Amino acid sequence: MTTPDSRAAGAGQHHLGATANGKRSSLRLATSRAELSALLLRSRTAQNARVALVPTMGALHRGHAALLDEARNRSDLVVASIFVNPMQFGPAEDLAIYPRDLAADTALCRDHGVDVVFAPSVDALYPAWPPAVTVDPGELGGILEGVTRPGHFKGVLTVVAKLFGLIDPDVALFGEKDYQQLVLLQHLVKELCLPVEVVGVETVREPDGLALSSRNRYLSDAERVSASALSRALVAGQAAGPRGPRAVVAAAETVLAADPGVAVDYLTLRAADLSDAPSSGDARLLVAATVGTTRLIDNVAVSVG
Ligand code: PAF
Repeated sequence: MTTPDSRAAGAGQHHLGATANGKRSSLRLATSRAELSALLLRSRTAQNARVALVPTMGALHRGHAALLDEARNRSDLVVASIFVNPMQFGPAEDLAIYPRDLAADTALCRDHGVDVVFAPSVDALYPAWPPAVTVDPGELGGILEGVTRPGHFKGVLTVVAKLFGLIDPDVALFGEKDYQQLVLLQHLVKELCLPVEVVGVETVREPDGLALSSRNRYLSDAERVSASALSRALVAGQAAGPRGPRAVVAAAETVLAADPGVAVDYLTLRAADLSDAPSSGDARLLVAATVGTTRLIDNVAVSVG
């Protein structure tokens, strides 16, 4: 199968010289399974290293940088994977135009202390297409994002399971912005008995609250203003926490309804594990909305009651 990111493959195993600030970098690039295992074998043997993995689809921004920094704090060897996973895109989604810039991504990785970038081709991760064996996310994969994006979480869990198999990390880091994905990945390691610690890292935001996302680049100036309503709504909901679950949702709804540029898909208060919202205690307020043609998601922790 050939998709645009297949073009990133074929490069050999590279030692990527000096950083922007002139410091020597030890970052290496692997584009095949063989290159990856050679690099990992060497590094693990040499350092008896604790390995952290940050799986990404590239188009890296400050949100990814926060994941890489946390990975660096928690390990001896940081691996970042860059792979636009075709299996998690629906037929009407943006796979073909998803931003790809391996040079910029490796530069950011180098500046954040990454040791190995794994940027495989589609064929390297999916030798058979469609894959015969996949990971079923269960009921949790069919709610919220799973309603509008059927098959999305099957694609996410399948590719992450492959990356875990290839890299064998001790710890893997994911952004809290994709909260349902994070919860599902915690299920993945628990239920498939994978010896990986899955760690969520707080969402990085623009000064007006908009959660960083590779898809924000699709927003026009006017849409960018509307997009900030999502985080403002979540903050309003969070502030209403002491008044109970209904007040949380009502406060957030009021903010979203005030901006005609925001088409809400869902706004929901749930327990932290995404089961029904508690009447008091720790909860999660999640929103998905389309602004122009761009679908945005965001969420915050809320203390209710
Ligand atoms: O969150 C993402 O960027 C992707 O869903 C992931 C976890 C890298 C799997 O392709």
